[in-house]
Amino acid sequence: MTVYLPGGRVITLDAPLGGGAEGKIFRLAETPDLCAKVYLDPERYTTERLVAMMAAAPSRWRGDHGEHMHLAWPREVLEDRNGQTRGFLMPLVEGAPLTHLFDPRKRLTAVDTPTWRLVVTVAARVARLLAMLHDAGVVMGDLSPTNVVLSRTGHVTLVDCDTVQFTDAKTGEVHRCTKLTPEYAAPELSSGQAVELRPSQDDFGLAILVCQLLMEGEHPFEGVPADATAPEGTAADNIRLQNNRILFPERFTALADGMPLNVLPPRVLELARACFGEGHRDPAARPSASDWAETLDQVGFQLMGCRHNENHTYHRTLGSCLWCARRDAGHGDHFPALGVPDVVALPIPASLPAARTVPWPRPPVSPAPQSPPQPTYPAPAATPAPPVKKGTELPEWATTVAAIVAAIVVLVIISAIVSALL
Ligand SMILES: Nc1ncnc2c1ncn2[C@@H]1O[C@H](COP(=O)(O)OP(=O)(O)O)[C@@H](O)[C@H]1O
Ligand SMILES: [Mg+2]
Repeated sequence: MTVYLPGGRVITLDAPLGGGAEGKIFRLAETPDLCAKVYLDPERYTTERLVAMMAAAPSRWRGDHGEHMHLAWPREVLEDRNGQTRGFLMPLVEGAPLTHLFDPRKRLTAVDTPTWRLVVTVAARVARLLAMLHDAGVVMGDLSPTNVVLSRTGHVTLVDCDTVQFTDAKTGEVHRCTKLTPEYAAPELSSGQAVELRPSQDDFGLAILVCQLLMEGEHPFEGVPADATAPEGTAADNIRLQNNRILFPERFTALADGMPLNVLPPRVLELARACFGEGHRDPAARPSASDWAETLDQVGFQLMGCRHNENHTYHRTLGSCLWCARRDAGHGDHFPALGVPDVVALPIPASLPAARTVPWPRPPVSPAPQSPPQPTYPAPAATPAPPVKKGTELPEWATTVAAIVAAIVVLVIISAIVSALL
């Protein structure tokens, strides 16, 4: 398919990068740092919305890192040959979906330092990013871990920004968000009606995401019901019914390898309880994104390092290493130390970078220079002595006598010459 910039320039789409319910994302043939989102159902999208978004470009909105791009915000509208909006160009973000942090094996390949400390830092960054959007009058709406791209260093970028709720600065018109991910949607949105969102709706999804990150991917509203006769509800059903393992763990069947609630630092647990308890009914009672960011930053200063494994970190209130205890209980080492192969109870994925799987000591990167083969026979002399003719060789004493005789002869001659002259 051919798409065009509004001026008529052709944009050549290259390999697909991903796709969701709304559109497909493609690399561009000529421009490596941009990509295109092409809508599946372009009728629903207006140029007006995208143009208003581009006018509200977030260049002055800052995240946690001055040089990191935090939002894949639309840059240019893309049209078909009839001038109908088909999608847009945006910055290309390299990285893995945030869901890779939920899984110990995927985490090993997704980030450079796969530790629980990094997980806490990432959670804080997501919270700060949302707080920044809320300050700018934007509500993410479709908050989900697949809409957050994670860099190898643990920095985060929001994608799917074209569906956010924002206000057109010129007209004052509110452009609404029309898409939600039910597993992260606040209970009042489960009716599916497009309503004007408030930041507190993002805050509900954020609380779920933070718990899920800190609890090894366990969604607080998912699980097998304790009542064996009850049907297993979806996360959205459980959100509506307030079935969550933070406040009501007894409503779910406890799994042998389930994460214990005390993995959550006390203040985090407090915020989660406020959000899923009182905040379930009253959006105003939910901790804000900046509350979460502040709390998670503080938690980052309260972590302990394990004596046995540098990749194990846990909150200081636990007293001993939770990850060692879980490994010893047979649940695998979720944060295996590098270079210590016997701590990994989980199967190592084939895609693990070579540097993380090679046994210690590592083989040299380039082959060591080979020493020349040793000869198995006596080496010939470098410069052989000239052959001595047989029969010409004199004994040492004869040489000495000849030298003395020669010296006497010379002395006799000299004395004869001297006496003749006198
Ligand atoms: N700017 C981008 N750079 C790199 N990958 C992206 C970008 N935008 C989206 N993606 C990838 O494509 C997937 C789908 O894009 P998204 O905009 O979320 O589509 P949908 O609206 O259909 O959910 C994302 O989950 C992400 O993996
Ligand atoms: Mg998406």
